[in-house]
Amino acid sequence: MKKKIISAVLVAMLTVASLAGCGNTAAESTTAEGTASAQGTLVVGTNAAFPPFEYVGDDGQPDGFDIALIKAIGEKIGMDVQIQDMEFDSLVSSIGSKIDVAIAGMTVTEERQKTVDFSESYYEAVQSVIVPKGSSIASAEDLKNLKIGVQLGTTGEFIADEIEGAEVSAYNKAVDAVNDLNNNRVDCVIIDKNPAEVFGAQFADKVDVIPGTSFDFEPEFYAIALPKGNTDLANKINAAIQELKADGTYDSLVKQYIEE
Ligand code: ARG
Repeated sequence: MKKKIISAVLVAMLTVASLAGCGNTAAESTTAEGTASAQGTLVVGTNAAFPPFEYVGDDGQPDGFDIALIKAIGEKIGMDVQIQDMEFDSLVSSIGSKIDVAIAGMTVTEERQKTVDFSESYYEAVQSVIVPKGSSIASAEDLKNLKIGVQLGTTGEFIADEIEGAEVSAYNKAVDAVNDLNNNRVDCVIIDKNPAEVFGAQFADKVDVIPGTSFDFEPEFYAIALPKGNTDLANKINAAIQELKADGTYDSLVKQYIEE
């Protein structure tokens, strides 16, 4: 009885909070009965504009390799997965408040590790360069002094920032960088290999995709970003990834979303 009243009050408070525009965040719902995770719901942040890892499907819902993977992980660890689509650049700072974890083709970097922990890596990637069809850009030397389009807050941006004389334009959505390439506002776009291939195919008459090996880009490792110090959640998620690799689910998702 008492419990019922308390939850009614909490529901009322949360309703007021969301009406007030504060948002019903994962952290706020922690007050109810432990963490959002303990309640059986994992609030997962993503940026659904990064195919084939995440995009908005025909039904208006987030879909893609990462989304399918985190849902499969949710099933393994007995939690409902709720996806929150947001800007890539706000994912890391939202962990522990708006979201519990993030899956977004996110590369493990030392800088991010200051704020969040990462699961074991689930995919190896590398940056590629999208260039206008027939362009002579072919090596690291050729990238100097160019106008370079990137997605804001990504490793593509960090690489572009280091290129001598580069004038870097950062976009919230990767596709907007590609659109500006097609409109001649930038000379090339630096972006992860698989999305580069998707955009390359989408605009096949306008662009070419040059592999990262031509520019000596380092390999990158995607992982799920987790709240710092939550080893319990990290262990569960890592065990689930291992199981999904062992039982063939991981490979079938790669086939379905990445190699199709
Ligand atoms: N791998 C790159 C990074 O971690 C780009 C990821 C962008 N992901 C996205 N869903 N927009 O910075």
